[in-house]
Amino acid sequence: MEPIEKATVLVTGASKGIGLAIAEEFAVQGHDLVLVARGEEALQRVADAIKAKSGVEVTVISSDLTEADAPRRLYEQLEQSGKPIDILVNNAGVGMSGLFQEADYANLSRMLQLNMLALTQLTHLFLPQMLMRKCGRILNVGSLVSYFKGGPNWAAYVASKHYVRALSAGLSKELRGSGVAVTSLSPGATATDFVKTADTEDMLAYQVPLGPSPEQIAKLAYQACQTGKRSVIPGVFNKILAFMGELHPRVIAFEVFSLLSNKKS
Ligand SMILES: NC(=O)c1ccc[n+]([C@@H]2O[C@H](COP(=O)([O-])OP(=O)(O)OC[C@H]3O[C@@H](n4cnc5c(N)ncnc54)[C@H](OP(=O)(O)O)[C@@H]3O)[C@@H](O)[C@H]2O)c1
Repeated sequence: MEPIEKATVLVTGASKGIGLAIAEEFAVQGHDLVLVARGEEALQRVADAIKAKSGVEVTVISSDLTEADAPRRLYEQLEQSGKPIDILVNNAGVGMSGLFQEADYANLSRMLQLNMLALTQLTHLFLPQMLMRKCGRILNVGSLVSYFKGGPNWAAYVASKHYVRALSAGLSKELRGSGVAVTSLSPGATATDFVKTADTEDMLAYQVPLGPSPEQIAKLAYQACQTGKRSVIPGVFNKILAFMGELHPRVIAFEVFSLLSNKKS
């Protein structure tokens, strides 16, 4: 597909980590941005820095996407401003490690709301406009863990990322020939604040960063999204892990996953 020129790009979870790197990459390529996260001050700082560096238009919207009506409010706010969204980047997501039965249910439920339902609703809200214009891109940030059949110590998080990948793959096929494409991005362990919120600091997978940096991931994501590629796994090591997760017998995949997600003590 031909890349979209001078798009307006909505990036959720854009104040830091992978979302920030993706927002910066779109800005460097000359696209206007709408940045979303909860922390307004951090978002504003990011917006000021991006505007100063790239000279693109940047709008900041503070929103907690774990609130059930937040995606609709965000959509309506943007509709009122008359700014159509050409590219939607569903990046905001959190992780949760540990034994399923020991998880706080309210936290678990918020994670699932953010990782799956907010992404689904934003896609459902913005897709019709894109289809009407016969032009649009949706980039869904999943995870390498979705290539493993299931994730002991991360059961619900892994399941939520399976959902992201499966939804993206199905939609991508439905949208063939429409001018709109969906890409799923599946990063492996990446050094961001995710490790703190998901409590993964002492997991083997996070001890030695073998995958690409957020900036390298963002460059690959930009290319894949603009050209309408169905999926992208950043980094050779992560591609090998994905291959192992998918092709090896389930019992081996579980063992590999358990090793990577083992905590030190
Ligand atoms: N880092 C990894 O190892 C890794 C691996 C695979 C996949 N991923 C995926 O990559 C995506 C980005 O993760 P990251 O590593 O960049 O994490 P991060 O550095 O912790 O950034 C998360 C971003 O999401 C925002 N956010 C969190 N909760 C939110 C909420 N309720 N409503 C709106 N925004 C919210 C945060 O800002 P506020 O806190 O201000 O809201 C922040 O901007 C996630 O979907 C994650 O699952 C990460």
